[in-house]
Amino acid sequence: MSQPNSTASIEQIDQSSAADSCTDPTRRAVLLGALAGCACLAAIEPASADDEPPGASERPQKADVLVRAEGDKAGEIIKADDLTLGGPPVRAWPKDPKTSVVRKGSRLNEVVIVKLDPNELDDTTRARAPDGIVCYSVICSHAGCPITAWVKEEQGDKKVLKCMCHNSEFDPRQNAQVVFGPAPRRIAALPLTVADGAISVAAPFIGKVGAQQGG
Ligand code: FES
Repeated sequence: MSQPNSTASIEQIDQSSAADSCTDPTRRAVLLGALAGCACLAAIEPASADDEPPGASERPQKADVLVRAEGDKAGEIIKADDLTLGGPPVRAWPKDPKTSVVRKGSRLNEVVIVKLDPNELDDTTRARAPDGIVCYSVICSHAGCPITAWVKEEQGDKKVLKCMCHNSEFDPRQNAQVVFGPAPRRIAALPLTVADGAISVAAPFIGKVGAQQGG
């Protein structure tokens, strides 16, 4: 099964639509980016490793570029100028620039990228976020749902990354630390670099990816 594209941006997805998308096949087809239940997780699984070219399941590597994971421009390389300050975030896959292999053989490789004011970032986050561009795993650390929403936080005024399965919130300005909900820990961060407007991966994931225990 190939990775589906979504016509809904990460910002447009509210909680009700995400929940409905699990029970209504029509809406599920439209809101593939808004999968909110464990039953839905299967729907976003990329093709099995057997169907993918070598390297597609490897975690993001240094010098990988990022390509859009959804929407009309799915597969296009993301450049710094493509991102809007303050969001919405963009979901992306790493791509090996030498082999052109998109690393979508594992859902654990999908990331979310958003451009923020560098002055809002804490020192740890700023150190790996060129021009304020932060990048995190899209997989929630609670039970592994994809993080689909960019909404005002439950207990404050900032917009945060939110997992609609059980409402965990992660602040991308603070190394994606948990600011609300049951998630046990921050989501993994992917350090980036920008050269001549081109975004690439600077280093492997920092932190555990997915809903692994501990850490
Ligand atoms: S899987 Fe994300 S909050 Fe439960």
